[in-house]
Amino acid sequence: MKRFAVLGNPISHSLSPVIHNAFSRKCNIELSYEKILSPIDEFEFTASKFIGDGGVGFNVTVPFKIEAFNFSEELTSNAIAAGAVNTIKIKNNVVIGDNTDGYGLVNDLVKNLGETIRGKEILIIGAGGATQGILKPLLDQSPEKILLANRTSEKSIKLASEFLKYGKVCGFGIHQIKSKPVDIVINATSASIDGAMLDLPAGLCDGALCYDLMYGMHTPFMKWGLENSAREVSDGLGMLVEQAALSFNFWHGISPKTDSVLSLIRETNG
Ligand code: ATR
Repeated sequence: MKRFAVLGNPISHSLSPVIHNAFSRKCNIELSYEKILSPIDEFEFTASKFIGDGGVGFNVTVPFKIEAFNFSEELTSNAIAAGAVNTIKIKNNVVIGDNTDGYGLVNDLVKNLGETIRGKEILIIGAGGATQGILKPLLDQSPEKILLANRTSEKSIKLASEFLKYGKVCGFGIHQIKSKPVDIVINATSASIDGAMLDLPAGLCDGALCYDLMYGMHTPFMKWGLENSAREVSDGLGMLVEQAALSFNFWHGISPKTDSVLSLIRETNG
């Protein structure tokens, strides 16, 4: 049986085995998928051991996505743009790194939430690794423009200038966000982890979709959206399932259907 895994630290909370096992049943592909806790300073050792023991592919989660990028011998264009890897496959003894996070978000927005991205104005808050992973896939869908706001404005200005080659994106400070509504607001900060709410102007999300990349809870950002006339709010659970489906396709060449798996995960973790 082909061996797959997810490597991270911590890892016990990971839903990836449940998702991949559900996909494998649906697609009649036999596989084993395990959680592997890697010591913080030993990603390369843990990954090499898994490959040496017969592992043919694995996902990588916090905090190892940049180390996985450096560990990869070949990279897809999405991994290069993201500067991070969340999916690795071993093919002819070559370690190939991909990043499915950004297209996972695009597929959740388009397929599950029925959004159109083309021609829309999108505000992303945050300029860390999560934002770097979603920028190119979103710009590939030809939004009218992406506004990139960050607490530390130097970081959003720098990131925007690096991604200008893929489309219209403009960086500035979080306090410069205008009270004018946009079509989609994405919270890509890590503020929700601490249960903190960002200082955002009311009016920004009037009629908008408010999307938090965090999942597994009703975040302060989602609550703020509901209180400020957002058209819809969503956490990032759909993105998690969609990025897993893209990883599954990277390994097996088959796109699994995601709707029933997302409902199952939502029922047990929503
Ligand atoms: P990740 O990989 O999840 O993106 P990261 O690279 O550490 O994590 O980035 C975290 C992001 O959340 C940054 O944009 C950070 O803003 P700064 O660049 O100014 O540090 C943002 N962030 C975290 N907590 C925040 C808060 N309470 N208010 C506003 N922004 C916050």
